[in-house]
Amino acid sequence: MSPTDHYFTAEPASSDERRRIRVPLAGREVELETAAGVFSPGHIDLGTQVLLKHLPPPAATLLDLGCGWGPLALTAALQRPDARITAVDVNRRALDLLERNAARLGAAGAITAVEPDAVPAEQTFDAIWSNPPIRIGKQALHELLTAWLPRLNTGGQAHLVVQKNLGSDSLMAWIARQTDANGKPWGQIEKVGSAKGFRVLRLTRS
Ligand SMILES: C[S@@+](CC[C@H](N)C(=O)[O-])C[C@H]1O[C@@H](n2cnc3c(N)ncnc32)[C@H](O)[C@@H]1O
Repeated sequence: MSPTDHYFTAEPASSDERRRIRVPLAGREVELETAAGVFSPGHIDLGTQVLLKHLPPPAATLLDLGCGWGPLALTAALQRPDARITAVDVNRRALDLLERNAARLGAAGAITAVEPDAVPAEQTFDAIWSNPPIRIGKQALHELLTAWLPRLNTGGQAHLVVQKNLGSDSLMAWIARQTDANGKPWGQIEKVGSAKGFRVLRLTRS
């Protein structure tokens, strides 16, 4: 990646040469496609690995927020082929990789991989899984979470993984203070896991 080519650019400038990696997903070893210019192209990111260890079984409708090449959405689809999984990312190369990876695994029917604006405003979710893009900056991250976390159905749960030294505790405190457009708190936020410098946060929508 060039210094200006962040993984969260819409059209990464780096070469789109595809490569194959073998990774463990949903208890099996699978071969997938990745490329430069997307987040963690060589392996499943450590934070994502920590998150995967703390996730409940996928709910019927699930949002993978900031999906990258798809480790979370693909895991959900392998675990629950009848789930309706929406995977969003601003990086079009990542969305293309996820679509191709879903097809490779026979999970294309379960996953809709789209840019955030393509998700209808009224669509809500029983679960949200995310390794959110902390590096976009605090304000942008807060805007991102404000756009999506209130779209959890009542009783639904969001699981987020955040590195401790990138502000997991302050993010948790911020989430605890948030209310939706009707003045209703987003819900109860708890720390449900901790490993390798990462925290897994769970929001249960009230
Ligand atoms: C930390 S990476 C996680 C990627 C993937 N879920 C994984 O675990 O490997 C965060 C992702 O969020 C994406 N992203 C950045 N800004 C976003 C936005 N406004 N809406 C949706 N996704 C965004 C980035 O492009 C990146 O793929």
